[in-house]
Amino acid sequence: MPLPLVIADTPLDATVTGLLAGHVEILPWAAAGEPVAPQVHGLYTYGHPLVDAALLDLLPGLKVISNYGVGVDHIRLPAAKERGIPVGNTPGILDGATADMGMTLLLAAARRLAEGDRYARSPAFTRYDPGYMLGREVHSSTLGIIGLGRIGQQVARRARAFEMRVLYHNRRRNEAAEKSLGASYVTFDELLAQSDYVMLCCPLTDETRGLIGSAAFAKMKSTAILVNIARGPVVETAALTQALQSRRIYAASLDVTDPEPLPRNHPLLQLNNVTIAPHLGSATEQTRRQMAEISVENLLRGLRGEELLHRVA
Ligand code: DGY
Repeated sequence: MPLPLVIADTPLDATVTGLLAGHVEILPWAAAGEPVAPQVHGLYTYGHPLVDAALLDLLPGLKVISNYGVGVDHIRLPAAKERGIPVGNTPGILDGATADMGMTLLLAAARRLAEGDRYARSPAFTRYDPGYMLGREVHSSTLGIIGLGRIGQQVARRARAFEMRVLYHNRRRNEAAEKSLGASYVTFDELLAQSDYVMLCCPLTDETRGLIGSAAFAKMKSTAILVNIARGPVVETAALTQALQSRRIYAASLDVTDPEPLPRNHPLLQLNNVTIAPHLGSATEQTRRQMAEISVENLLRGLRGEELLHRVA
């Protein structure tokens, strides 16, 4: 029996390839434009490639789209729905790792860790000086979380252990989470005005695209630190660059950028008051293993016409 054909944005990592071996035949993304396309039954998205109506029209035999990760903003869900193609993702298992990364970025920016690391390695570091590289206090400060979903709630839990006051803004107020986490609901503008740290934990949607632009920066404290563990386009890059260059805000700590990666000569990369990670939110060995297992299981179930473990659309 020939194996079912699956298109993926290769190269995939060894764990995913190992789990798929013997079950499917993987074809590269470009196969969507080749004569084999009508025989393709599965689409596996690994590194956020765009899946839109034009692509789906090339794949009339598609039975399932499986995404390695929870965020599906690169997949046009209405186009999949119109064609009756289920879309799977990997929620739940990456919340802890991603929230840990949020706190890592917050702490790193507050205490100027990346800048300090560069300095400690450089010839300029010749003697300890108690007056250099003073940062911002984390404990007893105020954290504003935008998006109190699963990841945002895990961030709130961690922030409470740092004795932070936790504010949040969300599409819907969540009174149960407020009670269990000691978080307070505020309007978007109140959150910006009162927070020492603004952490973005929301999905990228039409409502959140460009949410943090020059108008939002104007409402933030000049000592505020922006942490983005959501998606790059939630922040307007030009406005962020301007806010950091002019010291309208104190610093930013970014797991994601727009575009991603930034062009190597982008001015943001020249600034000392920005810390950037290469989209590492869920990048632990344990979490990525689980993401691989769930996304492969979603794919195989979809190919057999069964219910997916986790279906977004
Ligand atoms: C996610 O799960 O959405 C992460 O960004 C990895 O894709």
